[in-house]
Amino acid sequence: MHPIELVSITKRFKAAEKGNDEITILQDLNLSIVQGQSTAIIGKSGSGKSTLLHIAGGLDSPTEGKVICSGTDFATLDDKRRSVLRNRHIGFIFQANLLLEDFSALENVMAPALISGVKARECKDRAVELLERLGLADRMDHVPGKLSGGEKQRVAICRALMNRPEVILADEPTGALDEENASEVENLLLDLVREEGRSLLLVTHNQDFAFKCDNVYLLKNRNLTLEKEAT
Ligand SMILES: Nc1ncnc2c1ncn2[C@@H]1O[C@H](COP(=O)(O)OP(=O)(O)O)[C@@H](O)[C@H]1O
Ligand SMILES: [Mg+2]
Repeated sequence: MHPIELVSITKRFKAAEKGNDEITILQDLNLSIVQGQSTAIIGKSGSGKSTLLHIAGGLDSPTEGKVICSGTDFATLDDKRRSVLRNRHIGFIFQANLLLEDFSALENVMAPALISGVKARECKDRAVELLERLGLADRMDHVPGKLSGGEKQRVAICRALMNRPEVILADEPTGALDEENASEVENLLLDLVREEGRSLLLVTHNQDFAFKCDNVYLLKNRNLTLEKEAT
């Protein structure tokens, strides 16, 4: 079973607040995320990469087509069930890390597991292990405001992996970092995903980062073309 499968996805947006004009962003697009593999989507700004990622994670609905997450069609679930499915199977990393500013790095990483009902002790052990793995052993008690951009993004990676999701969805995860921090965070993310046997769907305009993944697609003219395939 694929962790996420996009079947004949079309997405249209209203072109303006008033009127019925629509623009088509994605057209009849198919994509299967393979268990244990990393997949990158590259494409120009405005080509629809974030839209595609939000649809893949059930954060937005397609106009036509369906998204199957671990065997379940998102469209068959109400909001509550959809967020439970997401919390269990998907980890998100965004360009803006969206950490909770009043909570420590450790608490931020623990949050997804606490929400899904895992015992506090167990959450803490897993969170500490992840933070140590990403070189943040002496930063666990810091609030995000006291961390550098690269450190914050590493905390966001730990949080995304906390619930051992089958798939991580990452939207320009290193887009706000300088070159040195970006390449460090890229490598840590790819290493961790591989070590833990997770799948990764990565959206980036960074070609070097993209081609470190097993599969690469180009999003252009509302659809995907394969640029590199896992051997
Ligand atoms: N909620 C929305 N309503 C209308 N248009 C949107 C909406 N979200 C995105 N778009 C448009 O869809 C296109 C693709 O956007 P996006 O997926 O953010 O591209 P990318 O991430 O590749 O830069 C853009 O032209 C954008 O303006
Ligand atoms: Mg985007």
